[in-house]
Amino acid sequence: MKTDERRVIRLSEYAPYPFRVDSLDLVFDLDPAKTRVHSTLALTRSGHADDLVLDGDDLTLVSVSLDGKELPADRYSTDGGSLTVRDVPDRLTLEVVTEIAPADNTKLEGLYVSDGMFCTQCEAEGFRRITYFPDRPDVMTRYKVTLRADKAAYPVLLSNGNRVDQGKLKDGRHYAVWEDPFNKPSYLFALVAGDLERVHDTFRTRSGRDIELNIWVEHGNGPRCAFAMQSLKKAMTWDEEVYGLEYDLDLFNVVAVSAFNMGAMENKSLNIFNAKAILADPDTATDAEYEYIEAVVAHEYFHNWTGNRITCRDWFQLSLKEGLTVFRDQQFSADMRSAPVERINQVRTLRARQFPEDGGPLAHPVRPDSYIEINNFYTATVYDKGAEVIRMMHRLLGADGYRKGIDLYVARHDGTAATCDDFVAAMQDANRRDLLQFKRWYSQAGTPQVEVSDHFADGVYSLTIRQHTDPTPGQPDKQPLHMPFEIGLLGRDGASLPVRLEGEVAYTDSRVLELREAEHTFRFVGLPEKPVPSLNRGFTAPIRLKTAHSAADRALLMAHDPDTFARWEAGQQYATDLLLAAVAARADGSNSAPDTAEFVAALGQCAADDSLDPAFRAQVLALPSEDYLAEQMAVIDVEGIHAAREALRRDIAAAHGDLFRSLRDTHRAAAGPFAPTAEGAGHRALANAALAYLGLDPANADLAAEQYRTADNMTDAMAALRVLNDLEVPQRVATLEHFHDRFKDDPLVLDKWFSLQALSQRPDVLDRLRELLAHPAFSMRNPNRVRALIGAFANSNPIGFHAADGRGYAFLVDRVLELNTLNPLIGARLLQPMGRWRRMDDTRKALMKQELDRVLAAPDLARDIYEIASKARAE
Ligand code: PHE
Ligand code: ZN
Repeated sequence: MKTDERRVIRLSEYAPYPFRVDSLDLVFDLDPAKTRVHSTLALTRSGHADDLVLDGDDLTLVSVSLDGKELPADRYSTDGGSLTVRDVPDRLTLEVVTEIAPADNTKLEGLYVSDGMFCTQCEAEGFRRITYFPDRPDVMTRYKVTLRADKAAYPVLLSNGNRVDQGKLKDGRHYAVWEDPFNKPSYLFALVAGDLERVHDTFRTRSGRDIELNIWVEHGNGPRCAFAMQSLKKAMTWDEEVYGLEYDLDLFNVVAVSAFNMGAMENKSLNIFNAKAILADPDTATDAEYEYIEAVVAHEYFHNWTGNRITCRDWFQLSLKEGLTVFRDQQFSADMRSAPVERINQVRTLRARQFPEDGGPLAHPVRPDSYIEINNFYTATVYDKGAEVIRMMHRLLGADGYRKGIDLYVARHDGTAATCDDFVAAMQDANRRDLLQFKRWYSQAGTPQVEVSDHFADGVYSLTIRQHTDPTPGQPDKQPLHMPFEIGLLGRDGASLPVRLEGEVAYTDSRVLELREAEHTFRFVGLPEKPVPSLNRGFTAPIRLKTAHSAADRALLMAHDPDTFARWEAGQQYATDLLLAAVAARADGSNSAPDTAEFVAALGQCAADDSLDPAFRAQVLALPSEDYLAEQMAVIDVEGIHAAREALRRDIAAAHGDLFRSLRDTHRAAAGPFAPTAEGAGHRALANAALAYLGLDPANADLAAEQYRTADNMTDAMAALRVLNDLEVPQRVATLEHFHDRFKDDPLVLDKWFSLQALSQRPDVLDRLRELLAHPAFSMRNPNRVRALIGAFANSNPIGFHAADGRGYAFLVDRVLELNTLNPLIGARLLQPMGRWRRMDDTRKALMKQELDRVLAAPDLARDIYEIASKARAE
């Protein structure tokens, strides 16, 4: 690849496009091998530029005409992908005919074929792989789209907006014409053509309009769409009630495809989904998958306002739509299910995915300053930390103030391409609040560390809170951030104490402090004794928190904190303290391993407490992950962490065998016949958390095997299978085989079978992985398969991936290099765990660096992979 194709794009270089596109007319002659695209653009000059430059990638140019006349070759040129037409008039009509080969499109960007149907993916820069166009989000126009295709093979022809015409053509072909009345950027364009089954429903909006809702799937999958359809209708109602936002067209189509790079895509009125984010029934989908479907369907629907009606000025503003829309789907899920349990899950994800990113070589701000390949910036930072930033504004302004800000944002920016600054300005102006310092959350990378110390004397309790952010690549100096920090105070008996600041009269049970300085001291008065502070309740700020809590303090908070999230967090931190101490003790060979008895007892008490939500109790039983523990260590002790965590799990299992047997039976019964409700899921989660502990003992293999056989749902079957998967018992192979044979024709379930084996703790995991690459159902062309096998291994099997001989790294890099030509977007994502070499021991460090060097030495490295490999490798 030429170096200029690896150009760094910078936010500071933003300039508006010098032409307006007044309309766009597209005609597609669809054919898998050779599709012809006839595009007609009406353009008006709006800035200073003699030449018209249009983006293109992998297109075969057939002809260019200007105002009806075919242009001679010396009036235009195509190089580096783009099309330049020299010296164009102020107003012009440009017609461009191009050809593309959808069947050969393995990158799954632009127009491609998935399971015999045509579909598109244009975000971020896929439209340029369909036709020449100013492929940037601030160029918005009206689309008219004509689709022509063989009628027997592709009876269904869909695009954005409304269908305004359709009919027959000769040679067994037919056509449909679609018009989208809303201006949109090219990344929201979509088309679908295929032989699909329709699941239909309607929704009446609050203003009384009837909307036609369709979910289109492969024939036979109709019955598996009911849950997604219900989720869509719930999301539509919720957005009207909570945000005052109503759907704006009469038709909303959703299509499920099996080959898709991401979860789903919010194309205007034609959402395209990864099939795994739509299809569910009790036999094939777990509770977690039902929940995922509900959230993704809502997320894409919510984009209709936060993303489509108001879009992004440039890709640096990606979090304007993604952070906001993730926050919206989180609010929705919290309203549909248990809010504290949702919050716990969000924080787990943030810690598992975003904190490591923010602390490693790929750290970037929520609004990045530069990129080489924008596909690499669909990250946990832009999405999940971006959502945390919105959540903090919600907390600082209150629900009503936040809603006022949203209303003003929509009033000001509807129909336009906006920036993150515009969003904060609306929040600020609607509330007359100064958010200038707060905006640093958008520009400063890295997770702030907040350290709290306390002191009690003469009835006054002082909390000293210091914040600090470590340097990240390109940002050596960090400024203090403005953040909400909710606290409460508990007495030694576990009762809540009044929170009253010195100089104030009012007191509350809980209080949101605002931190702005590197150091604050807050003085609380009217306290009879030194309290135990409950800090960052609800995870008000996305920070790493260091406290002086003793084991007894943690146990007290675990048992009594009225903030459910904080109660869970106390347990996690208690476990983390113990596990890190155990790792250290094991490493220096001393016998100072901590006594875990009190923690084990406290955990048992929470698990046994019937007054608590079963879903919450299941969360309490899940120890911090090996990766989370690794994040807390200067040099990661892979085996030590694994050994310490397994030992603690065994202590817990040994202490609470009877409790776990009774929890498993009681909550399995309480769940009743399967229904995908939050309540049922909670019972199953607790029963299966108990089963996981029981299953550490091979003597309980029969219990798991029996659950596998009798389960009426995938959640219970998978829980049983996971237990067997880690045991050296005859039932293991037999059950895995049974699972394979039962589901071999269902790609989404087969993915679970691949994942189970990728997650195996057995020493032969890599040999098995190599065998599975050759399995007839495995394909490097299907991203779900790749993620199920290779992604699961690299991201969620630390002991296997970090095998001391480096075979795990070599295995991953071999796959990344295969993807370099097939699908570099997916290859770049897979490569990310290799950036963790900095905190590994010297042997692993050398092995990982050597593998990254192997990537960088490969010929014709794609931009996506080059960017990740070079940043990951940097010393
Ligand atoms: N915009 C999609 C979403 O978050 C994600 C996506 C990005 C999908 C790029 C495909 C390609 O809802
Ligand atoms: Zn999104």
